[in-house]
Amino acid sequence: MIDPERLLTPEGERAIALAAEQADPGSLAAATALRRHVEPDLAAAALDQAALRRRARAKFGPAADRMLLTAHGTEQATRPTVAAWRARRIAASGVHTVVDLGCGLGADALAFHAAGLDVVAVERDHCTAVFARHNLAGRARVIEGDAVAELPGLVAGRDPASVAVFCDPARRTERGRTWRVDQFSPPWDFVVSVLREFPVACVKLGPGLPLDLVPDDVEARWMSEAGDVVEAALWRLPDAAPGRSVTLLPQDLSVGPAIAPGEPPVGDLNRYLVEPDGALLRAGLTASVFPGWAQLAPGLGYLTGDRPVDSPWGETFEVLEVLDPGEKSLRQWVRANRVGTLEIKKRAVDLDPAALRRRLKPAGPGTATLVLTPTTRGTRALVVRRFRGKDAE
Ligand SMILES: C[S@@+](CC[C@H](N)C(=O)[O-])C[C@H]1O[C@@H](n2cnc3c(N)ncnc32)[C@H](O)[C@@H]1O
Repeated sequence: MIDPERLLTPEGERAIALAAEQADPGSLAAATALRRHVEPDLAAAALDQAALRRRARAKFGPAADRMLLTAHGTEQATRPTVAAWRARRIAASGVHTVVDLGCGLGADALAFHAAGLDVVAVERDHCTAVFARHNLAGRARVIEGDAVAELPGLVAGRDPASVAVFCDPARRTERGRTWRVDQFSPPWDFVVSVLREFPVACVKLGPGLPLDLVPDDVEARWMSEAGDVVEAALWRLPDAAPGRSVTLLPQDLSVGPAIAPGEPPVGDLNRYLVEPDGALLRAGLTASVFPGWAQLAPGLGYLTGDRPVDSPWGETFEVLEVLDPGEKSLRQWVRANRVGTLEIKKRAVDLDPAALRRRLKPAGPGTATLVLTPTTRGTRALVVRRFRGKDAE
């Protein structure tokens, strides 16, 4: 790896511009072409940036083409819509400044600035801090340093009501993401102390946040964006009550907070099936949004009822047929109905839908959706149709 500062020099900028012109920055042809003009290490780093920018457009849009990126930093970065929602909420609390501890490449910090906040960002990793400084130029002060050591100096002498603290701790080990708090960085004790000590504080965590990690007196809010459950964040705000909440974006709908929400009762399969948004399931708030609906098995998530519902919080299906889940009978059904386009959904059933679809050999003009799920009468394959009726409740 070259010194990341080299990418900021005119020579580095020229190398990235040349790399961006390559059809496939990851190819040998691109490497060969660039090395004609640029020294090999810089050529490799520039091609890397060109490839990362292309991939990052899915998250950051055209802004990716002006950013300096790392693969981990891009993956960990908050989606702009979610970052903007958080930033607006923090700005609405009346603070003027936000301290972003572990800013990564700066996705949250960019949103804080856009929401009108002064931003001080701290990043421990040298390369990430150099890139963040570039990405946030003119929009945030980036300090390369340790969050734990820097925080006291950054808030000393400030009115606590004027500053918010945000922290998005790294939870990555060599083996991937972890929920072992002793492996979080900054350390979990520090993260929790931020929530305790600052009147406006937010800690971003993954959507799989175990409920036993949620301190009793904070709000835990799961965020769903465009159908993906993207994070759970712990919040301290003067007007945020403790409990579990969910926000759905881009609609900007919220439910909660609920302190001890109940599970829906278990019931027999009925004519309609609802697949609630994953964030409701993670937060345990399905019963609050779908009162009167039963779940097909304890903790399963699929709900069943006798009437359709048109809700942004879940997708409704009409159950057309109930099949034996054995492969032989499914293959016969697929053949008999000349189904060529087959969607397979499943829950709590140990199978790979893509592999099953191949084995069922779909062929023909028909389209179908199968849901493999436990029911009160054992595992079943449900033939369903998405319901978008006008008369849904
Ligand atoms: C999950 S990423 C932050 C992503 C960021 N919120 C965004 O949306 O772009 C966490 C960052 O915290 C940094 N970090 C970890 N421990 C730190 C510490 N003790 N002090 C400062 N930064 C730290 C990591 O290097 C990493 O870049």
